[in-house]
Amino acid sequence: MRIVVLTGAGLSAESGLKTFRDAGGLWEGQDVMQVATPEGFAADPERVHRFYNARRARAAAAAPNDAHRALARLQAEGRHEVTLVTQNVDGLLEAAGAEAIHMHGELAGALCAACGARWPAPEEMGPADACPSCGARAVRPDVVWFGEVPYRMEEIAAALERADLFAAIGTSGEVWPAAGFVEAAADAGAETVEINLEPTGRRGLFDRVITGRASEAVPAWVAELLG
Ligand code: APR
Repeated sequence: MRIVVLTGAGLSAESGLKTFRDAGGLWEGQDVMQVATPEGFAADPERVHRFYNARRARAAAAAPNDAHRALARLQAEGRHEVTLVTQNVDGLLEAAGAEAIHMHGELAGALCAACGARWPAPEEMGPADACPSCGARAVRPDVVWFGEVPYRMEEIAAALERADLFAAIGTSGEVWPAAGFVEAAADAGAETVEINLEPTGRRGLFDRVITGRASEAVPAWVAELLG
């Protein structure tokens, strides 16, 4: 079977990383528009760097949970062709041994807004840092902000078009374009399943809804597929 899995913040919640939409529109106490938009970065790069430096440190200290490990097993086992697409910017799927498409970028990466160079992010980034490639002081976290185009969309669209099974795991389905993947997969003839702590606002679009904690529900679902 060709399987496409989309993951969101709920996958890493039990590794101690906060989800986004559980705190009344605030994102770890910050206004999303100030810390996750190009305009917010232009207005106060210091604040935005501080925010991502803290998130990078928390992600680096976190460990994968049973849900990350189950997805890595599903991919490594090789019985199915598995494309993992994540909106998460932590590296916990990789830490579990999986290979994932990071459509929203990665905290572990730095990006030069002037020349497009990418390199591993240092622990602390700041507005005074110079790009190692062109020297411009336009260094930013390699994450995709609101109003920007997610990475590797053509590859993801191609995988959805060929999918027999699509699963959305630990994502509220409120952020586009990822929210539209279920319809793209269904249009292509895939069976669709949502695995989440609670049924989301998009539950009606899925053939099957599994409600539970990712660390329990995902290993059980993977066991079904490998059974
Ligand atoms: N197991 C399964 N699901 C969980 C768990 C858990 N232990 N804990 C929380 N959830 C669910 C929540 O119920 C919620 O529906 O995970 C979902 C997380 O939703 P969001 O916080 O909206 O995160 P996500 O969908 O990944 O956000 C998408 O928005 O802020 C941007 O770029 C950011 O990638 C992010 C995007």
